[in-house]
Order: sequence, then structure tokens, then C-alpha cells
Amino acid sequence: MKTFTSEPLSEILSWAHEALTVSDTITFEVLNPDIAKNSYAGETVTINEINYLHRSYKGWSDLAELLFCRLLTPKPLSEHTIALTYEKLDLSDSFHHSEEKEEKYGTASRFAAIHKNEEPAFLSPYLRALRSVKVGDKKRILNLGINTGDEFDLIRQILPDEVYRNIELVGIDFSSSAINVARERFGEGNAHFYVHDINDLSSLNLGRFDLIITIGTLQSSTLEFKPLFASLVQEYLNKDGAMILGFPNCRWMGGEMIYGAKAPNYPYSEMSIIIKDIYYCKKYLQQKKFRVTVTGRDYLFLTATSLKKELA
Ligand SMILES: C[S@@+](CC[C@H](N)C(=O)[O-])C[C@H]1O[C@@H](n2cnc3c(N)ncnc32)[C@H](O)[C@@H]1O
Repeated sequence: MKTFTSEPLSEILSWAHEALTVSDTITFEVLNPDIAKNSYAGETVTINEINYLHRSYKGWSDLAELLFCRLLTPKPLSEHTIALTYEKLDLSDSFHHSEEKEEKYGTASRFAAIHKNEEPAFLSPYLRALRSVKVGDKKRILNLGINTGDEFDLIRQILPDEVYRNIELVGIDFSSSAINVARERFGEGNAHFYVHDINDLSSLNLGRFDLIITIGTLQSSTLEFKPLFASLVQEYLNKDGAMILGFPNCRWMGGEMIYGAKAPNYPYSEMSIIIKDIYYCKKYLQQKKFRVTVTGRDYLFLTATSLKKELA
């Protein structure tokens, strides 16, 4: 088995790259990260006259992710060392490759296996966004691209029942299979779901909302980002309303949420489009007197709250 002691990370990375071209799993021996827990990556730890460089489990897990691998349960090898195994993800196991339109994200798709609220890097910034817009004070909430309703489910989980039931929730998606599931999940009578194309919102006569949420949807190839976004602010948001926009900065493959969105024309994750789109929305909303924050990592959340009440 390959053993690393004081080699720099660049050497480990290049060995791992090479080894993964000939094998789907690689195993190597390193210093047990628990030995020098408060050390930073690269600090020297000397044991029995051998110099090791410390690295944390987080660092080893990050490296696995960057190599499109999962980290298997580490095994102790000696008093001071462990064996780490990286296993290649099945990159073909993903909804991203689907050619479908309305049912690309339907219940028969691989997307249906994803529960974003169970991913800490999604849950935490989404919860923060819901709290910062004071979701419990809202009377009408619109969600575009609601799919089976996970984003409403978290609102239901965090609010007292009597507060939740007084909010009118409206969810729109053109996947009929996903909307059927959403209708079954939200039987309390305060949620309404439409199988409908977001390009034709006007025919639904929805009125205005206190909060508009749309996650992973605005940048869809089926939609025109800028005009749709402008029409949401101008025609569907109350003057003192709020917005939560979620921009995926990740890919879902082989059971994992992998940091970094795939960009057209690049073999690696490149962030120009996501930054441009978020900046456009931020500027637009600031001009219309909203306070705007951008948070998150694998999903970037733009959260906007109106300053009009405060300024009045
Ligand atoms: C990437 S999924 C995101 C779903 C959910 N918000 C989430 O983050 O898990 C995009 C959703 O938008 C829906 N969608 C995409 N384009 C649409 C359109 N033109 N009209 C209605 N729904 C659309 C898809 O069916 C899908 O459910």
C-alpha cells in the first residue's frame, strides 16, 4: 500500500490522479488526523522520529470530492496511521444527462432520489434565508419550479402549525408527476399546485406575493432568465415583499452533491455565468430598494428584503 508521511499535497494529488486512471479505488496510508487535531494542514507532526504532515478528515474528504470520488470509512493501520480509500463515483448516474423536457425532473427521473434538505451545505443557507426574510410573517408565498415540494416542506417544519396553516403557498412546475406528489404531500388545504409552464405565468392570474422562492430553476434552458426575473419583481412581488433565489453551484452524481457547476465549454467548474446572473439580480433589486445578501456554497442563495418599510 502507498504510504505518505511528509510529502506535499501536490505530490499526493498527482499520484491519486495517476492511480485513478488505472483503478476505480485507491488506498493509501496517512497520519491519523485525530493525532494532532488542532493543527492546520501541512503542520509537521513528528512521531518515532518520522515527520508527518497533518491533514484533517475534512481535507481528505475535499480531496476525494475534487477527484470525483467518495471517501470510504477509514481503517486504523497502526497506532498513528490510517488507511484511506477513495472510490470513483459513477459519473453516468445523474439526471444532468437526461434529454427529457417536462419530465426531466419527474418522479421517474434520477432527480427524484435527491433530498436537498438532507445536505448540510444546502439546508443551512436555505434555512438562514428563510429566517432572514421572516417567512412566518408572510401571507402568500410563490415557488417556481417547486418539483415535489421540498422547499415548502422545510417551511412547514420550522413554523408552528397555526402560523404555517395561515400562509397561502403556491407552487408551479411543468412536471405533472412531481406536482402530483406535491399535492399528496401538502393536504392541509393552504397549498395550491399548478402543472404549468413558467413562461406563461400570466394566464394563471396569480396576483402578488410576499415572498417568491425559486431554486435551481431560473437558469433553466427552458426559461429566459432576465425578462422572467424582471417580471417576477414587477408583476408578482408585493412592494414590501422578499425573494429567495437559489443558484446551484454543484452537480449531483453517483449519490453525491459535488461542489462546482459544470460550465459550457470548460472541462471543469467555471463560475462566470452564475456570478454574472447573481450580480444582475443583486443590482436590479438594490436599485428597487431591496437589501440583498448572497450566501451559500454548493447552492448560492440571493436573499432580498424590501427596504421600503424601513425607509417610509
Ligand atoms: C433543477 S429542478 C429544481 C427543483 C427544486 N426547486 C429543487 O431545487 O430541487 C428545476 C425544476 O423546474 C421545473 N421547470 C423547469 N423549467 C420549467 C418551466 N419552463 N415551467 C415550469 N417548470 C419548469 C422542472 O420541472 C424542475 O422541477
